Amino acid sequence: MRTQVAIVGAGPAGLLLSHLLHRDGVESVVVETRSRSYVESRIRAGILEHSTVELLTSVGLGEQLTAEGDPHRGIYLQWPEERHHLDFVDLVGRGVTVYGQTALQADLGRARDAAGQEIHYEVADTALHDLGTEHPSVTFVDGAGNAQRLEADVVVGCDGSFGPSRAAVPEDRRRAWERTYPYSWLGILADVAPSTDELIYAWHPDGFALHSMRSAKVSRLYLQVPNGTDLAEWSDQRIWDALATRLGHGQGGWTLSPGPITERAVLPMRSFVSEPMRYGRLFLAGDAAHIVPPTGAKGLNLAVADVALLAPALVALLRRGDPTLADAYSTTALRRVWRCTHFSWWMTTMLHTSSDPFEAQLQRAQLEWVAASTAGQTGLAENYAGLPIGF
Ligand code: DHB
Repeated sequence: MRTQVAIVGAGPAGLLLSHLLHRDGVESVVVETRSRSYVESRIRAGILEHSTVELLTSVGLGEQLTAEGDPHRGIYLQWPEERHHLDFVDLVGRGVTVYGQTALQADLGRARDAAGQEIHYEVADTALHDLGTEHPSVTFVDGAGNAQRLEADVVVGCDGSFGPSRAAVPEDRRRAWERTYPYSWLGILADVAPSTDELIYAWHPDGFALHSMRSAKVSRLYLQVPNGTDLAEWSDQRIWDALATRLGHGQGGWTLSPGPITERAVLPMRSFVSEPMRYGRLFLAGDAAHIVPPTGAKGLNLAVADVALLAPALVALLRRGDPTLADAYSTTALRRVWRCTHFSWWMTTMLHTSSDPFEAQLQRAQLEWVAASTAGQTGLAENYAGLPIGF
């Protein structure tokens, strides 16, 4: 097999890249170890930055998003006895859109079907070769058990933190930075109307809680829990009681409505950046190069921003022989990656309860400043609603 761009991974980064390349006349083949139904059902964050929505809409992926996405002006930031609304639209002129990654993945899948995109699901033993030459390739065993070699001009790793792409960069050519956090999230989906119009980010002595949503009938909520938490120890009742306490049920007349829990999982929290995002004819995008903790919902938006930079760079390289943008890709993308890495770390460490009483005092001082000061609010709003793609 031969193509121009071999894309490893059919998550949002891989499929969006194939979509953007196709629009500009560059062909690609995608390989994915998981099944299509697995990829389309995995639950991730659901907040799209302003520039993510603009990009998706401008490339013909906005139909469902416009019909079903839920525009939000801002968030509530709260701690016991206090709830403050931050209005991003007033502060920085742009808001965010609530739209689940599962919905976006389905939109991308439909668009790729319509274009006749070649995607190999459920492949095994994916390996990347000759990345330091102009003739790289990807080998894999296809779903029928046949060994395949995909020759390409460029390979793009969109295969997340556990895929083979990052590891294909020689160890002496890459450097990584990492922070693990001493807590996790217990996330639930529930068939109940959200109890709030805007997301609530709540600091509480028992631990952080977040009230998010997916639609008028589905709520998404999270609780800070210790690392190693066993879901079996969290009955539905215990989950709803903890959410009610931390989110301030009963305060100022606000109530939290519980409902049937349809999905639950414990999510680890990690910051990770691997540099550079390019080695020879291999480019990395999304979680293959960087992981953010979920607070602030930057993971998907960062993946989209990477691909938005990478697609025109590959078009210039492969159609016009112009390497300028491809050569700048890693440096340009990493500027935004580190900005979002800082923002996610800042939101995480401001809101999660730690065992250090001094830190707890600093968190309160920080929260009070952010909520009370226009400068503080604006800093949060600018980062949360998202910086321009080319930042
Ligand atoms: C969601 C996840 C987040 O990490 C966040 O900061 C906001 C919302 C979500 O899943 O809806």
